[in-house]
Amino acid sequence: MALTKKAYAKINWMLDVVGRRADGYHNLVTVMQSVSLCDTLTFERRDDVAGILLDTGGALPADDSNLICRAARAYFKETGKPFGVQVSLEKKIPMQAGMGGGSADAAATLLALNEMEGGRFSLKELCRVAATVGADVPFCVAGGTKICRGIGEKMETVDSCFSPYLVVAMAGEGVSTPQAFRAMDEKFGDFSLPEREAAKRLPAIKSALEQGDVNALSTLLYNRFEDVILPVRPRVEELKQQLLSLGANVALMSGSGPSVFGVFGDAKEAERAAEALCAGGAFATVCQTVSAG
Ligand code: C5P
Repeated sequence: MALTKKAYAKINWMLDVVGRRADGYHNLVTVMQSVSLCDTLTFERRDDVAGILLDTGGALPADDSNLICRAARAYFKETGKPFGVQVSLEKKIPMQAGMGGGSADAAATLLALNEMEGGRFSLKELCRVAATVGADVPFCVAGGTKICRGIGEKMETVDSCFSPYLVVAMAGEGVSTPQAFRAMDEKFGDFSLPEREAAKRLPAIKSALEQGDVNALSTLLYNRFEDVILPVRPRVEELKQQLLSLGANVALMSGSGPSVFGVFGDAKEAERAAEALCAGGAFATVCQTVSAG
């Protein structure tokens, strides 16, 4: 029997880079949020196949560079009991957008394989395996609203009451995450300034999310990657300004970009904004926040 899983994209309510580690990765302080924009993955056990047989419909390579394959390898390494599985991927989350699309697919794969194995690992154990696949994968396994630290593996649940309509938009080419981090190294050096700013603002952001206080959030939310991406990608700032003029309470870049999201209180207004951005040649869609599992 086939098993279908939705792989939800994420946005970042706030994102700061607070240090560079010896292994070249960066420590973050971020508040991540699952959203309803999603890929759909279908899994079917196949005894005539060795390992993963992946069909992406040509949307992206189906080889071992794909995070779905890497997630399956990581899972089977833990169990020591690989089995054949056919996976088909319907891609809706834009790629290299800063919305965690690849990580969401990897997380859906871990959750599906674990379900096929009768729930062998707890969510906590699955998050540990997820961290070996990619920095954002543990969050995608857990979902909902989380403060993430370290490279994303240290998670704290936020009991958020903030569930607005969101317009997610993107124009132009994707951004390479490693390149965006290199630009951050050049601009921020030892990251002491971002670290202080994150420590100052995070408690207020957490409490505004808990209270669903959109006015407070519109002055508090920020993404440090905007400092290095906006100067080289003017279309990102343009999309932010368009979202604001179309009625968004706040508009922000997600992850290392170039996708942006606008926060709307009203579904119709959000629909109209998405239509206007699409008419201008951008990708834009309305979605909502998604709570944990
Ligand atoms: O873990 P993931 O594959 O998503 O990361 C892609 C790249 O982005 C890493 O190889 C690293 O260069 C950079 N990165 C980082 N610090 C993080 C996450 C990613 O430097 N916390």
